[in-house]
Amino acid sequence: MKNLIDIKDLSVEEIDELIAKAKDIMSHPENYWDKCKHKKLATLFFEPSTRTRLSFESAMMELGGNVIGFSSGSSSSTSKGESVSDTIRVVGCYSDIIAMRHPKEGAPLVASLKSTVPIINAGDGGHNHPTQTLTDLLTISCEKNRLDNLTIGLCGDLKFGRTIHSLITAMSRYKNVKFVLISLKELGIPEYIKEEVLEKNNIEYIETDDIEEYMDKLDILYMTRVQKERFFNEEEYLRLKDHYILTKNKLEKAKKDLCIMHPLPRVNEISTEVDDDPRACYFKQAMYGKYIRMALILKLLEIK
Ligand code: NCD
Repeated sequence: MKNLIDIKDLSVEEIDELIAKAKDIMSHPENYWDKCKHKKLATLFFEPSTRTRLSFESAMMELGGNVIGFSSGSSSSTSKGESVSDTIRVVGCYSDIIAMRHPKEGAPLVASLKSTVPIINAGDGGHNHPTQTLTDLLTISCEKNRLDNLTIGLCGDLKFGRTIHSLITAMSRYKNVKFVLISLKELGIPEYIKEEVLEKNNIEYIETDDIEEYMDKLDILYMTRVQKERFFNEEEYLRLKDHYILTKNKLEKAKKDLCIMHPLPRVNEISTEVDDDPRACYFKQAMYGKYIRMALILKLLEIK
């Protein structure tokens, strides 16, 4: 039985297969309508979510399956003091696969050790978010037609942004990928990502606090929100939250085929005037999320 806890749980070949499968689902959705008949997905969300939970649920429904679950810890027996391990053992009796989001880093890994059904990490604290990364890879593959030879700007909260950590880890396995890390010092990329991913794999990267400095070099600009829920100090959050706001002006020197991404939710990081720019891909990105999750559910349930 396979779980998806970290994006590295999948080989590059497996990721390529998932992307190919998602593209096939997009072109022939009718071939997949019954694939998960009589199967149930449980979505256990101990933290807020719109896209991830609903795209998982919509994915399972489009495969002909059913969905059970909860959207906050407070509406589950966790509020009575039940452990994640016990919850998982029980939910495994009622479902065939579980997507779980939790504020504690490592909680989905702990869950996977006790589970009798596959566990998908739908975000664990400020750590990882592998299914957002699969969404991002499908987006890049569809919009840029390649996953190599790319210069990727990552902007905003690189410290707490779990989507950033998983995306860097995934993209570091493709050829000639370079990163421009755009953040204030306080929200810079964690040392462990620098050492264990970037430096270990000899990946070229530059750190800057200026969003415009390398704009003309970027193939992808990935904006992120400052992760309010990870701050201990509200004043600090308020001081940092609106530092980067992408506007039309700031895109003046950008390439004509730049792909602007954002895992969403957006707070203020991208001015709404950018939404009409053909380079804005973030709403399409959310759409791709459903198809790659359909492909992932099929893979983990071993359905051809
Ligand atoms: C992201 C997350 O939950 O980490 N959202 C998502 O899943 N699309 C990004 C965020 O919350 O900022």
